[in-house]
Amino acid sequence: KRVLSVASEAVPLIKTGGLADVVGALPEALAGQGWQMRVMLPAYRGLLEKLGKTKIVWADDYLFGGPGRLHLGKFGEMEVMALEAPHLYDRDGGPYSGPHGDYWDNAERFAALCWAAAMVAREGAGDWRPDVLHAHDWQGALAPAYLRYAGASVPTVITIHNMAFQGRVGATKMGALRLPPEAFHRDGFEFWGDISTLKAGLTTADAITTVSPRYAEELMRGEYGQGLEGVIAARSGVVMGILNGIDETVWDPENDPDCKPFSANKLAGKSHARKALQAEFQLEKKLSGPLAILVSRLTAQKGIDLLPAAVEELVAAGGGLALLGSGDHWAENMVRDLALRYPGRVGVHIGYNENLSHRMFAGGDAVLVPSRFEPCGLTQLYGLRYGCVPLVAAVGGLADTVVGATPASLAAKAATGVVFHPVDDLALRQATRQLCALYADRKGWAAMVKRGMKTDLGWGASAARYAALYERLLAQ
Ligand code: ADP
Ligand code: GLC
Repeated sequence: KRVLSVASEAVPLIKTGGLADVVGALPEALAGQGWQMRVMLPAYRGLLEKLGKTKIVWADDYLFGGPGRLHLGKFGEMEVMALEAPHLYDRDGGPYSGPHGDYWDNAERFAALCWAAAMVAREGAGDWRPDVLHAHDWQGALAPAYLRYAGASVPTVITIHNMAFQGRVGATKMGALRLPPEAFHRDGFEFWGDISTLKAGLTTADAITTVSPRYAEELMRGEYGQGLEGVIAARSGVVMGILNGIDETVWDPENDPDCKPFSANKLAGKSHARKALQAEFQLEKKLSGPLAILVSRLTAQKGIDLLPAAVEELVAAGGGLALLGSGDHWAENMVRDLALRYPGRVGVHIGYNENLSHRMFAGGDAVLVPSRFEPCGLTQLYGLRYGCVPLVAAVGGLADTVVGATPASLAAKAATGVVFHPVDDLALRQATRQLCALYADRKGWAAMVKRGMKTDLGWGASAARYAALYERLLAQ
């Protein structure tokens, strides 16, 4: 059985965030369930070269302003359908923005991807036609919509990785995006007088999933629904949360080229990594408290503005912070200020660095994830795997994956981290204090580290749930 996954990023070809990790991991995970998944991506500059030899399986002379050709290729074990359309994708810069900010035509760029995906789903490409189409986020959301508007019966799933990004553009783009005016109303793709491509997908897909059960519930409420809570609530019968897994071969402390191997029963390699990390971030050699890390996009979603409270407590307890990230100017400046204010205790690298992130999870005692909202979150999972205890806000997937330390959970030997709520600086301050106290109890800490490392974080259970969903849709 065949499924076409439509997205704007997939590891290891192109990544800006967790979406890429998940889209890149699903094909292998689903292969284990008897589903052949192909991933459809835009052929951003340089992507076709990475694929090597490809075959053209579909073409269109006029795809949203120029010619488009669909290449079928392979990267490792992943089967990729890369949409070549130079007028849309052959650009300097990232997948969404260039040196001068967001591309002006992002709506058209991803509409083209969705159009091609819908054509493949309806008519096939080469000798391949998917039984199910699975779209991701606003960039993939028009694929189920185009199918529905054309009256095609291919079953469709849309996964929300982040409701904050909705593909909202002015209604004047309706023609350019090939959207039918009859569906421009509040139960269609209209959103406060504009077009929302995410809403188009949410109102037309046969099933809606999101990346944790808790986020699925949160999305029905105003605080988290970002204006689309009514749509989710109205379709609650087809909404489900399926937790993300992690790629356990890429994130494996026993087999990671970026650190000396260690495991729950042999933690020596971890103390080695800690020392190396202190040196790399120019932190004091002797830290008596926990060495915390943070690896993240530096944006409001991630609660970066709350960090000063956590840092004060860490420093007071003899610990420190190593931070890697990039993002909004205010947040980059704020964390740089923290490094200046606490020399030897706070070290900051602004940028994006996959290898460094591995060294940080290996060397860190704790990973901070104080997100205001978090659909799933992956860094707390990497933390668990690497014995880097997560301190997380009680939202979304963070709440679903970390068992917070309480007298009861500690007595039951179940705690794997520290969870705080509400998401404000007072609660984060208290949670950091709790973390430092737990760290000071060396035996209790070691037990918690080991529990985290033994938690099952693989894709097995979640892949089975996606497969069951596809089967159910096929049977309908
Ligand atoms: P989001 O997708 O909202 O950014 P996730 O936690 O799901 O959040 O995924 C973020 C992914 O990006 C993780 O794999 C994380 O390790 C990685 N990441 C984020 N910032 C950086 C960075 N500066 N350097 C390296 N990896 C990063
Ligand atoms: C989004 C979310 C993040 C999630 C990721 C993968 O980027 O912000 O919480 O882990 O998608 O699903």
